[in-house]
Amino acid sequence: MTIRATVKGVGHYLPSRVVPNSEFEATLDTTDEWIRTRSGIERRHFAADDEFTSDLGTKAAQNALDMAGLEPDDIDAIIVATSTPDHTFPSAATMIQQKLGMTRGFAYDIQAVCAGFVFALANANGMILSGQAKRILVIGAETFSRILNFEDRGTCVLFGDGAGALVLEATDGTGSSDDRGILGVDLNSDGRHKDMLYVDGGMVSQQTGHIVMQGNALFRQAVEKLASTADAALVKSDLGHDDVDWVVPHQANIRIIQGTAKKLGVSMDKVVVTVQDHGNTSAASIPLALSVGVSRGQIKPGDLLVTEAIGGGLAWGAVVLRW
Ligand code: UT7
Repeated sequence: MTIRATVKGVGHYLPSRVVPNSEFEATLDTTDEWIRTRSGIERRHFAADDEFTSDLGTKAAQNALDMAGLEPDDIDAIIVATSTPDHTFPSAATMIQQKLGMTRGFAYDIQAVCAGFVFALANANGMILSGQAKRILVIGAETFSRILNFEDRGTCVLFGDGAGALVLEATDGTGSSDDRGILGVDLNSDGRHKDMLYVDGGMVSQQTGHIVMQGNALFRQAVEKLASTADAALVKSDLGHDDVDWVVPHQANIRIIQGTAKKLGVSMDKVVVTVQDHGNTSAASIPLALSVGVSRGQIKPGDLLVTEAIGGGLAWGAVVLRW
């Protein structure tokens, strides 16, 4: 008998303010057409002034719990992937724990920027396989609108706010790749590329800071690394490209998503795409895409999914799971 970390519920939350590309035309030397054709983004959501990452994460978590038919105190742990926590500390996870009214268990954040949700899923899987927790809320939540430089057209048009959450539960599997749940994980990082994407804030500057990105250089790294990490996670799962029902990629740029799918030999009708509506929501983008993919009727129980992401660090990775 093998323990598997299986999805019991999924949910998401998006702030109500929708910002179309055209809004940037008033203040920047940019066009809706440039943003659409270079990134695939048409609109994104921005949080209200009084709405923070823990608020978004709490709402997504509540929706995932509702789908799972569970109460907050049925959960053993909360892991939040975020680079935009409300405060330097405490973690967004403990704030969400409090906002959910959860009075037991433990909660902490993971920071691997846009790859954060993949790292959090891998971490939750390890917690479940080692018996430290039976049910874990894994949340990706971000308010990147707060770290955008609205004078930098190369970055501020690309990012958005949102949150998504999964409930993972320990279940008995057979050990074969037919099992439901997480089947394979591949994680990587390379700190030599730290200048490709970073926020110039923190202890050094004593300010929150803004995103700085070498978009073109990162683009060149992305497709190669995403395809190879997805491949590695499939090999570790004893599965191949033909077994994949859905690729659920990090939603940074439609051209990266298309390039990676092509390298993997997976057609675009097997890829969940939300970048047009959400922009790049960093660690929230994969759980948002999972939740939207389920509500659209794309992802169904038993489907074989590959999630892959890359971001600042660089950090990148992939998780293979059967829904
Ligand atoms: O989630 C973490 C991972 N993030 C990523 O993977 C992002 C990776 N990078 C990208 O998605 C793309 O590189 C971008 C969407 C950021 C940029 O697309 P690109 O095709 O690589 O454009 P570029 O950076 O090579 O810029 C081409 C031109 C430049 O002008 P010149 O130098 O050719 O005159 C830019 O200044 O486009 C210009 N440009 C813009 N023009 C209009 C850059 N941003 C804009 C803009 N509107 N918003």
